[in-house]
Amino acid sequence: MTPNKAKLIDGKDFSNQLIRSLIPDIKTILKIIGRPPTLAVILVGEDGASQVYVRNKVKQTEAAGMVSVEHRLSDQTDEETLLSLVETLNNDDDIDGILVQLPLPKHINEHSVIQAINPDKDVDGFHVINAGKLATGQKGLVPCTPLGCLLLLRDTLGDLSGLHAVIIGRSNIVGKPLGQLLLAENASVTIVHSKTKNIEKLTSQADILIAAVGRSEMVKSSWIKPGACVIDVGINRITAPEKGDGKYRLVGDVDFAEASTTAHFITPVPGGVGPMTIACLLRNTVVAAAMRKGVEISIK
Ligand code: GUN
Repeated sequence: MTPNKAKLIDGKDFSNQLIRSLIPDIKTILKIIGRPPTLAVILVGEDGASQVYVRNKVKQTEAAGMVSVEHRLSDQTDEETLLSLVETLNNDDDIDGILVQLPLPKHINEHSVIQAINPDKDVDGFHVINAGKLATGQKGLVPCTPLGCLLLLRDTLGDLSGLHAVIIGRSNIVGKPLGQLLLAENASVTIVHSKTKNIEKLTSQADILIAAVGRSEMVKSSWIKPGACVIDVGINRITAPEKGDGKYRLVGDVDFAEASTTAHFITPVPGGVGPMTIACLLRNTVVAAAMRKGVEISIK
């Protein structure tokens, strides 16, 4: 018997649709407040992956007709200087969203910096006020990667009510907020992590399996219930000697070749969750601008 091939969830195509759907709201905001939604992005240091992410965020924000203001600081920048930049941006009425690219250099306390951002401008949704709103079902800014996963799941599966979702990874950026979002959709949620006993037994009960751990190709076919929907949040660089010296390729947290013989739906890496994260950042910037300025928009 030839194994079934899972259907690909095309995050690139869906993210393009999502960005296109923001354009009428961007135009409404421009018309009413006299400028487009505006995002400030802060990058501290020279981390290669962060530079690529920031470049993509800035490029796509501008392609959608919004403004982005980039602040690049040296890796020697002290915490006080960074906090004072955040404060300046908090007080600048022409800035709707503030994103501080993580990770920050070791000598800077990430938590202090994130908590210094005005929660109404916190387009990453990392501030404790936004985390608390999400946990208690109030409207706020929702972290971009979990929101992207949710939108893909709704588009692929429709109603998520009563489905069992298993999330591998308990980070503040992905695992925990995604658990809250899925509970709000009436899914049953299990979060497993590095200390969980017999992970495979739990993951193989999942109708929806989400991997967000940052370990290359950890999730094997035997971890997956036949017919499940698999969302791979991981983006890991592994060396690819077949491409030449010093070359690398990107793989997810899921062993794609194995998993696609068992799952019914699966996201590729790259081209799955990654583009959705950026699209949701643009969405959050539009939402933040509209909320701050009291503009009625179509996004609910
Ligand atoms: N670094 C990796 N992912 C993210 C993200 O979603 N937001 C920010 N600010 N930094 C990140």
